[in-house]
Amino acid sequence: MDGPADSAAPPMLQLTNLSKTFDSGHGRLVALERIGIEIGCGEFVTVVGPSGCGKSTLFNILAGLAEPDTGAKILYNGEPRMAPELLGKVAFMPQRDLLLPWRRVVDNAILPLQVEGIPRAEALKRAQPLFVEFGLSGFERHYPQQLSGGMRQRVALMRTFLFERDLTLLDEPFGALDALTRSLMQRWLLDIWQRHQRTILFITHDVDEAIFLGDRVLVMTARPGRIKLVLDVPLARPRPPEMLTSPEFIALKRQVLAAIEEESIKSFQQVAEG
Ligand SMILES: Nc1ncnc2c1ncn2[C@@H]1O[C@H](COP(=O)(O)OP(=O)(O)OP(=O)(O)O)[C@@H](O)[C@H]1O
Ligand SMILES: [Mg+2]
Repeated sequence: MDGPADSAAPPMLQLTNLSKTFDSGHGRLVALERIGIEIGCGEFVTVVGPSGCGKSTLFNILAGLAEPDTGAKILYNGEPRMAPELLGKVAFMPQRDLLLPWRRVVDNAILPLQVEGIPRAEALKRAQPLFVEFGLSGFERHYPQQLSGGMRQRVALMRTFLFERDLTLLDEPFGALDALTRSLMQRWLLDIWQRHQRTILFITHDVDEAIFLGDRVLVMTARPGRIKLVLDVPLARPRPPEMLTSPEFIALKRQVLAAIEEESIKSFQQVAEG
């Protein structure tokens, strides 16, 4: 499958005029400004942008954990949706893994299924085959604090995939992985995405990762976060690892890097100015 599955269906997600202002003790902070995007059903869209540009804030809003400013419009499958209604509509892996320290790995993995009312035995049956795929076999009965950072991240990713939803939001899911595991997980994720026809929005700081995985790459501006560039990635799938050094790949990378660099410099200046 390449790109949107059904062009007659409404986009899976349509955002219009989405802004977010925080009112903290230090004054007002505009985190997001007039974001407008459309994500097609079955698309894999990656998001890059300087630290603090509002990527996680955007995901929190899409997951129903935060409200946008008034005037924003969020359409899921053509239907308008707002904060509390959005909870549970998407599978969300937050930037921090949020594993519960008192639950074993297996019980962390099946938690969202249990919250949905699926009996433990049935949830375990669904989870079991994934332990091998995620390289966690033998660690099912460990507690999160007995795992490495990369393993914890894989438990959180596994939990997100067990929670089957039309839209999956992954906030830097591979950030804590070593290069080899990361590239294995990237290929695994593409395989899952193609077999299960999921729609994925994926935040990363790694430009290679953004291009290698995405149908499109969204580059955000420094705060306030806006969409600076939407880049189509017309590379054929399946994508072999050698593609990372192909001239087509390098040309795309050059465009993304140029857009990001400009914004990263602005973002550092913001931090320096306080
Ligand atoms: N609950 C909050 N209250 C006040 N300000 C917040 C809150 N959450 C985020 N912010 C601010 O909003 C801005 C965007 O934060 P966000 O976490 O979305 O950035 P990000 O793009 O995910 O950064 P990173 O790449 O470092 O994860 C930051 O300036 C941050 O300080
Ligand atoms: Mg973030």
